[in-house]
Amino acid sequence: MEPAKTLEAYQDVQLSACKGRDVLRIDEFSPAELEGLLRSAQQLKQWQKSGKVYQPLKGKTLGMIFDKASTRTRVSFEVGIYQLGGMGMFLSGKELQLGRGEPISDTAQVMSRYVDGIMIRTFSHEAVETLARYAEIPIINGLTDLFHPCQALADMLTILEHKGTLKGIKLAYVGDGNNVANSLVLAAALLGVDVSVAAPTGYEMDDQIIKQAEMYAAASGARLLFTNDPEQAVKGAHAVYTDVWTSMGFEAENEQRLRDFADYQVNERLVSLADPSYLFMHCLPAHRGEEVSAGVIDGPNSVIFDQAENRLHAQKAILAAVL
Ligand code: CP
Ligand code: NVA
Repeated sequence: MEPAKTLEAYQDVQLSACKGRDVLRIDEFSPAELEGLLRSAQQLKQWQKSGKVYQPLKGKTLGMIFDKASTRTRVSFEVGIYQLGGMGMFLSGKELQLGRGEPISDTAQVMSRYVDGIMIRTFSHEAVETLARYAEIPIINGLTDLFHPCQALADMLTILEHKGTLKGIKLAYVGDGNNVANSLVLAAALLGVDVSVAAPTGYEMDDQIIKQAEMYAAASGARLLFTNDPEQAVKGAHAVYTDVWTSMGFEAENEQRLRDFADYQVNERLVSLADPSYLFMHCLPAHRGEEVSAGVIDGPNSVIFDQAENRLHAQKAILAAVL
């Protein structure tokens, strides 16, 4: 079969400016670049579905460092780079010398001599910033305690596909002001999606990230609301999003969190306030009976598996742009 035309042929924004860029946060990209990435992701998805081969990353290698568990991120990055003609190399943080105390700065410089890019999932966001500072190759954040940018791009793609637009969409996020919330709100603010976040007292999003999101929203026209009231957040929402109450690394707080989040479950009663054709969204993995009822997550409005699938397409767009 004929190889497909390059992605650039389909772009009206120059994603070539993204070559070599780190993706530590979703706001490494301008709104125009994010829109370009979303169009790329849609094109790549269509090509993949129709069996077209597109391999701009032939011969390239992506090192994939994991200090935390993963199903979606690991599999979608490995499959994604393979489909683009390259190969992914799974590296357990524990089994690297990094796990025995080799400095992250040395690891960055050594790996830069072998691989063309690194995707890393770890705890501290500062560690990823250090890796990026010392590496000569693009570093992609596959989740830190602070951000999950690849998830946010896949989330925007999912809303765009199901609703046909991002403008005028009202997204509600209910639960922990965590890594997923931080990236989601920044992405929405950049792209002009209205967002309401309802978190319990003590679990609100970081003030500085809220300020950054407000700055982006002022430019895009997105309206942002931060509240402790889930009903206020969900009222009239076109998409209702939640994530686990206890993220990886916070397991010791689980009992306390179960109590603190008890009124924040996304269930039939809460979503009855949303727009009747609302989308239910969750980055997964999910805990039925905690942050979401089984009826909602397994119900007709749930798009969780489209969201999970879109990790593959969104990340292929990122890989094709930065590697
Ligand atoms: N949503 C997400 O990042 O899933 P994994 O933890 O399975 O990678
Ligand atoms: N907030 C969750 C997301 C998992 C994909 C965590 O950090 O564990």
